[in-house]
Amino acid sequence: MESKDKMEAIISLCKRRGFVFQGSEIYGGLAGTYDYGPLGSLLKNNIRDSWVKTFVHDAENMFLVDAAILMNQRVWQATGHVDSFIDPLVDDLVTKKRYRADHLLEEHGVDANVMTVEEMTAVIQERGIKSPEGNALGAVRKFNMMLATKVGAMEDSSATSYLRPETAQGIFVNYKNVLDSMSPKLPFGIAQVGKAFRNEITPRDFIFRLRELEQMEIEYFFHPEEPWEEMFDMWLERQKAWLASIGVPSEKLHAYEHPGTARAFYSKKTVDFEFEFPFGTKELTGLAHRTDYDLGKHAEWSTQKLTYFDEEKKVHVVPHVLEPTVGLDRAFLAVLTSAYKEEGEGENMRTVLMFPKHIAPVLCAVSPLLKNKPELVAKAREIYSSLKKEFGRVMWDDNSNIGKRYRRQDEIGTPFCITIDFETLEGDTKDTVTVRKRDDATQTRIPISELPSFLKS
Ligand code: GAP
Repeated sequence: MESKDKMEAIISLCKRRGFVFQGSEIYGGLAGTYDYGPLGSLLKNNIRDSWVKTFVHDAENMFLVDAAILMNQRVWQATGHVDSFIDPLVDDLVTKKRYRADHLLEEHGVDANVMTVEEMTAVIQERGIKSPEGNALGAVRKFNMMLATKVGAMEDSSATSYLRPETAQGIFVNYKNVLDSMSPKLPFGIAQVGKAFRNEITPRDFIFRLRELEQMEIEYFFHPEEPWEEMFDMWLERQKAWLASIGVPSEKLHAYEHPGTARAFYSKKTVDFEFEFPFGTKELTGLAHRTDYDLGKHAEWSTQKLTYFDEEKKVHVVPHVLEPTVGLDRAFLAVLTSAYKEEGEGENMRTVLMFPKHIAPVLCAVSPLLKNKPELVAKAREIYSSLKKEFGRVMWDDNSNIGKRYRRQDEIGTPFCITIDFETLEGDTKDTVTVRKRDDATQTRIPISELPSFLKS
């Protein structure tokens, strides 16, 4: 299947089956925003829960925080975001539409990662590069991507705040609170999941480049004298293993190390995992060695002591930090595009989402074979209620015939369909049901009493 067709098929499925809708759709939308529907919200929650389980619950010395999205403007002055969280912007001189200059240059085979805006302007002019509409382009300018807002009744500059462009700073400003309240020993990590906002010049590729996004980030603090190279590789492996556990195959991931010239000046090493999305191989996760830059800057601007007391050497040190990060929306898209399959031909053709069972929005669907037979419906309802109470992710489905139900459940990635038929009610097979498995479309009979252990396994 062509990549473009695959992406269109996935976007259409997302809307048709309640995974993802355009933001503010009935008003014509708002670029760079999407809403997660009933099944999309469940899938997103399951991915988020799996990340928290892996990196917080199943790990030692990891602490979760949930900081406010609005922060004191000095946070962003201290980190340099106010001056330098910028993208290069260029205008189409006829339509006045704006584009990312580095993306346009990339499309013409120019790596603009290390260029100044003046250098980008010069290359655009020398090569006669035009806008996608074929018009002349203006000079490249810097565009700050933070979304500013006013907090409180005052309208002056002291009321300015920003919708956070990354969750990371909510962690750094709480470093001292976590140290004081939890008394962790180095190395330890602070994790956060939450919304971030970026005024992207050209949001695109469905939920890949958004203006309102969700991040899952960890700041892993370690002693500045501790060797970090092995730890860095270990975090890369952890990121890869977690992605594999949610159905993102490792062979579709490519490690990209930022060259020295393109990394933030304070970073010792930065490696992204790029993923083979249908629209190109693009960044999914990041891992950066941020040194003591953030704690150092916040200590300077807040005049607070943000150190750690090394009991052994009896000295105060400023820990260094490794930062593994991943966008939840991008993880969602990687899971979705990895799970999407079209199998068979003609009448036997089916679209199926092969989600791993623990993240599928619906674990099982329960159906009476025929919905006009009260005795089947009553028994099916009874089984549905008890499974629903135990597993939550259970759907009642009595739409159309059984074949169509299976197709519809395949399309939303439900691993098991349980059907209550006449054999459930009498004879040797009494109190057994048909369980149809999504992955190979095979069916088995299972005693009702064994359903919970079957679904758990
Ligand atoms: N704290 C470090 C940081 O924010 P980043 O590479 O700018 O680093 C981290 O962002 C992750 O957030 C990326 O790897 C990506 O998965 C996700 N992300 C960044 N910008 C995004 C956007 N506009 N839309 C969706 N996800 C985005």
